Amino acid sequence: MSAGPRITPTRREALLALAAGLSPLAGHTQPKPQRQQSPRGPATRAIPATGELVPAIGLGTWITFNVGNDPAARGNCADVMRAFFDAGGRMVDSSPMYGSSQSVVGEGLARINRTAGVFAADKVWIGSGARGPAQIEESRKLWRVPRFDLLQVHNLLAWEQHLPALLAMRSAKQLRYVGITTSEGRRHSEIESIMASQPIDFVQITYNPLDRDVESRILPLAREKRIAVIANRPFREGALLRALKSHALPPWAKTELGCDGWAQFVLKFIVSHPAVTCAIPATRSVAHVQQNMGAAVGPMPDAAMRDRMAAHLQAL
Ligand SMILES: NC(=O)c1ccc[n+]([C@@H]2O[C@H](COP(=O)([O-])OP(=O)(O)OC[C@H]3O[C@@H](n4cnc5c(N)ncnc54)[C@H](OP(=O)(O)O)[C@@H]3O)[C@@H](O)[C@H]2O)c1
Repeated sequence: MSAGPRITPTRREALLALAAGLSPLAGHTQPKPQRQQSPRGPATRAIPATGELVPAIGLGTWITFNVGNDPAARGNCADVMRAFFDAGGRMVDSSPMYGSSQSVVGEGLARINRTAGVFAADKVWIGSGARGPAQIEESRKLWRVPRFDLLQVHNLLAWEQHLPALLAMRSAKQLRYVGITTSEGRRHSEIESIMASQPIDFVQITYNPLDRDVESRILPLAREKRIAVIANRPFREGALLRALKSHALPPWAKTELGCDGWAQFVLKFIVSHPAVTCAIPATRSVAHVQQNMGAAVGPMPDAAMRDRMAAHLQAL
């Protein structure tokens, strides 16, 4: 009796087939394989100016990536970046204000070979408009990217001088998006007037379940003017999560939202606001970056659930 067609692939064949995205049994006598379910990536949000999609969770670098020249600490930051990209992350936010962070980002991107996939968000932070271009070029070299996706005027420093230069860079296609930043509620009325009068693409503000000042005017204005919103300090530099640590996560956060801890609870609250494009938590921990990226997967709260979440935190 003939042996018939061989249906059991060798281990090497199976591995090669899997690497090529095929069933290891394809081409043999097996029934047509079912389409493989691709793993679910993070939820994305459209940048209003272009419709480009970005994951709802990014990565901040202030303090956490300012690790100087210590090779082990720099290697750890590269590991955090690898875990971030592996989970589908794209936007990394830094600034010349953040010490060694820009060079740590650049080294990390090169080490993990992600320079092409990153959404590079940096800032100009210098009192002199004339010195802005040189600072931007220095930042670009530290990041080791051909150009930035987004440049923001950090904390509105000399914004009247920097903004025209950034807009000219955008027109010349040396830059894709232009933005402004603030944090902790500072200069909100000035932020509003710039949003109302200047053709910016992004605004970066502090927003989390306890810092909600932006909900009254800035977030509605962002929707009206079609400006993307980056939420910084989602965890109040970690203090919010440290305070929540002594409280049990309510069971409904797990059953109804799929939260595995307070970090996901807070991030889901932030990125479910209809005006918010992404939140940018910072971390030095691979486990934490994975947890944070997990907040962009699974159910998102609706308006009623957001009220419930805020009320729950207020009552603690
Ligand atoms: N004006 C501006 O433009 C401006 C101002 C402020 C911030 N920002 C940007 O926003 C980013 C985020 O803000 P932030 O750096 O102030 O702080 P944050 O993201 O609110 O908090 C960071 C802290 O939270 C901890 N953390 C992160 N994920 C965690 C998790 N899953 N579980 C437990 N702890 C966790 C981190 O500690 P571990 O390392 O232990 O995880 C870190 O100490 C900055 O890095 C920066 O890029 C911009």
